[in-house]
Amino acid sequence: MITLISCTNRPHSWTRKISDVYIKRLENKKVEFQFLDLQDLPTDILSNEMYDKKSPAFAQLEKKYLIPTSKFIFIIPEYNGSYPGVLKLMIDASDIKKSYHNKKAALVGVADGRAGNLRGMDDFTNVLNYLRINVLHSKIPISSVSKQFDTKGNFIAEETLELIDQQIEMFLKM
Ligand SMILES: Cc1cc2nc3c(=O)[nH]c(=O)nc-3n(C[C@H](O)[C@H](O)[C@H](O)COP(=O)(O)O)c2cc1C
Repeated sequence: MITLISCTNRPHSWTRKISDVYIKRLENKKVEFQFLDLQDLPTDILSNEMYDKKSPAFAQLEKKYLIPTSKFIFIIPEYNGSYPGVLKLMIDASDIKKSYHNKKAALVGVADGRAGNLRGMDDFTNVLNYLRINVLHSKIPISSVSKQFDTKGNFIAEETLELIDQQIEMFLKM
């Protein structure tokens, strides 16, 4: 099973819009996947008991989206030069062995700036490798994200769409 994760809890994020682009591509390819939006992370995840006592809502999320997954696609916005804290919070609250060990991941960076979150994807790759996750070499940086959509919300970056398709094909074979 593949799980696609929109890695921010910011409402109306561009990351969510890029996630929708991936959702459509995966559906077109008839790939079995599920989608997790970090906007839906239970709010009680951040408590000083998170390391010892799992909130029932987070345990539910972990059981549905993390443990049964063999491959993750992370769509990651650039926040202060790297990946968002809410993504690390989810990881720190998870059962690491069951959720991540010996799995695979593909990464997509999203930024309104020019770097497409390249540094955030590298930073997150280090974390994933620590968690024994193999990361696909093909990482897609999406820069100036607001300019990649037309006024009706259609994704108009044809070259990037080709790269996305190639990345998905490689990831399915990984
Ligand atoms: C807390 C925060 C920090 C940000 N830091 C950066 C940054 O360091 N570099 C950058 O190019 N854009 C930065 N941005 C802009 C985001 O990259 C931009 O909003 C982009 O659309 C992806 O974020 P989004 O999915 O939340 O929309 C930041 C946005 C937020 C909310």
